[in-house]
Amino acid sequence: MCGIIGYIGYRDAIPVLVNGLEKLEYRGYDSAGIACLPHQKERFFVIKEKGKLSALKEKLGDFSVEAHLGIGHTRWATHGEPSRVNAHPHIDAAGKIALVHNGIIENYATLKNILQKKGMRFLSQTDTEVGANLIGLHYHKTPKLFDAVQRAVSELHGFFSLVLFTKEDPETLIAYKRSNPLVIGLGQRENFIASDVTALLPYTREVIYLEDEDLAVITAKEVSIYSLKTRSWVKRRSSTVNWDVAQAQKQGFPHFMLKEMYEQPDVLKTILNKRIQKNGEIFFDTLSKKFQTQLKNIERVSMISCGTAYHAGLVGSIAIEKYAKISCRTQVSSEFRYGDSLLNKKDLVVLITQSGETADTLAALREAKAKGAATLAIVNVVGSTIAREADAVIYTHAGPEIGVASTKAYTAQLATLLLLAFYMAKIRRTIADADFKKLIKEIKKIPQHCAKILKEIKKFETCAQKHYTRRNFLYLGRGCNYPTALEGALKLKEISYAHAHGYAAGEMKHGPIALIDHEQPVICIASNSFTIDKMISNIQEIRARDGIVIAIGTEGHRELEKMADDFFSVPAVPEILSPILTVIPLQFFAYKIAVLNGRDVDQPRNLAKSVTVE
Ligand code: G6P
Repeated sequence: MCGIIGYIGYRDAIPVLVNGLEKLEYRGYDSAGIACLPHQKERFFVIKEKGKLSALKEKLGDFSVEAHLGIGHTRWATHGEPSRVNAHPHIDAAGKIALVHNGIIENYATLKNILQKKGMRFLSQTDTEVGANLIGLHYHKTPKLFDAVQRAVSELHGFFSLVLFTKEDPETLIAYKRSNPLVIGLGQRENFIASDVTALLPYTREVIYLEDEDLAVITAKEVSIYSLKTRSWVKRRSSTVNWDVAQAQKQGFPHFMLKEMYEQPDVLKTILNKRIQKNGEIFFDTLSKKFQTQLKNIERVSMISCGTAYHAGLVGSIAIEKYAKISCRTQVSSEFRYGDSLLNKKDLVVLITQSGETADTLAALREAKAKGAATLAIVNVVGSTIAREADAVIYTHAGPEIGVASTKAYTAQLATLLLLAFYMAKIRRTIADADFKKLIKEIKKIPQHCAKILKEIKKFETCAQKHYTRRNFLYLGRGCNYPTALEGALKLKEISYAHAHGYAAGEMKHGPIALIDHEQPVICIASNSFTIDKMISNIQEIRARDGIVIAIGTEGHRELEKMADDFFSVPAVPEILSPILTVIPLQFFAYKIAVLNGRDVDQPRNLAKSVTVE
């Protein structure tokens, strides 16, 4: 939530900041703004606009400013409505410091009171301006911004990151991280800082991920990092990012979401090639021998995650119980972190997260570690906080996902979790060799099945056209496709704003059946399963009540095809693999309905891709 960018070097700062904000806009789009120090001038140039970055860009069109130092921000509003005055950057009351912020300053109200009593005037309703003014107050007492920030952050409660500079020192950017991500991009005679690497990729691949309580001093020539934890200057190792710049562009697709859906066969192929060795064994390069032994001996598993990743966890949990024969529960991170979990060192806690930065999942990870459980992160973003803090990490290799509604990151999580379950079954000897071999043979075919579905997906367009004006949808599934029902409903509601509800089909008679009428489409995920007959009975019950049935079933299921008003088929696979396939038509259905309703598919209202505040 909220994207931060900072630049210092020889280039024109404004285009660098705007390009960076374009990449970061998925983190929030309530307002955008830039502050820089024009060449040989003593006053800041600050420009902000409510709404999307496009509004800021339009406004910028009228100005020509030469600057080589600047900061930018794209906002997801927490304190104070989306407006120009609440947009970042904020300038302190003395007019000397420009600052951008991501996160929440929890004690801002108390501090604001104190500062107001000292006669300070506030222009905005944000917690950010309190931070700027507190730093300003300390800066008034000490001549060094570095010292002022150090003093101020010790008085600020909450989790946040800051990037700032003073007009009195046009050679330096200061950055501070407490929980919310910041990554420094290293260049030649220039340096960058951003909330995530996608903003840096056009300029550099050499990056340093800041750690909590790092205070960085960034000039065009060097980067120095002081740790407030150890009270010493520290050396943080740089790493090279191997993401492809093109992956973070639309490449001719009208939306990132559609492009990312079409990337799924390639992503799955990459995962399977990386994880399945020539001899058919599963291999996770990042798991140490010690951790592998731990996996053999653990007695319980918990899958903890949010949103779409939670749905992936539900499937993963079914697979772990079915194949590795370990009791596994799934919980959303926000519930887990405030619950009284009875974890101990015999537990494995699996944290699933695309961004690796979700605040609740990070808190859950810390809670699990504190209780002595082994922690394994299933993460997409390399080097993210959760990836670094967990005992072990398995990357999902989905590449950058920009669309707020997750698609390829979800199927990548599914494939990775299934492989983990099969792997654990193998090392714990809970699966027969022949069954293991069969699963490996079948999972290797998944990318081609996925490609086939995408080739035929346009057939499903007429179904979306028929129903796009409807306001209520029910999604039903059983077993490992109950999570698919939840995910299908989530996709539809988040991008089309229609009400969509996912339900376990067996629970239909305990409530949702009262909703069945000739107005509300019921999307039934009914691919081959040992419970298919039960699902067919549910469908009959819906039809008997004049309901509209849209069925996702296995190729060649004539009975189902005849029964449904609309039918989309997926190739036959072992049931546990089917969620990777059945979700694809549902992603497409949600996408089409959103487009037909004129919704902003990649940046749906009120949402942000990376939820770094609770
Ligand atoms: C937000 C995003 C979802 C994502 C969820 C969890 O709600 O819009 O797409 O599934 O956060 O994010 P994570 O990065 O932890 O997977």
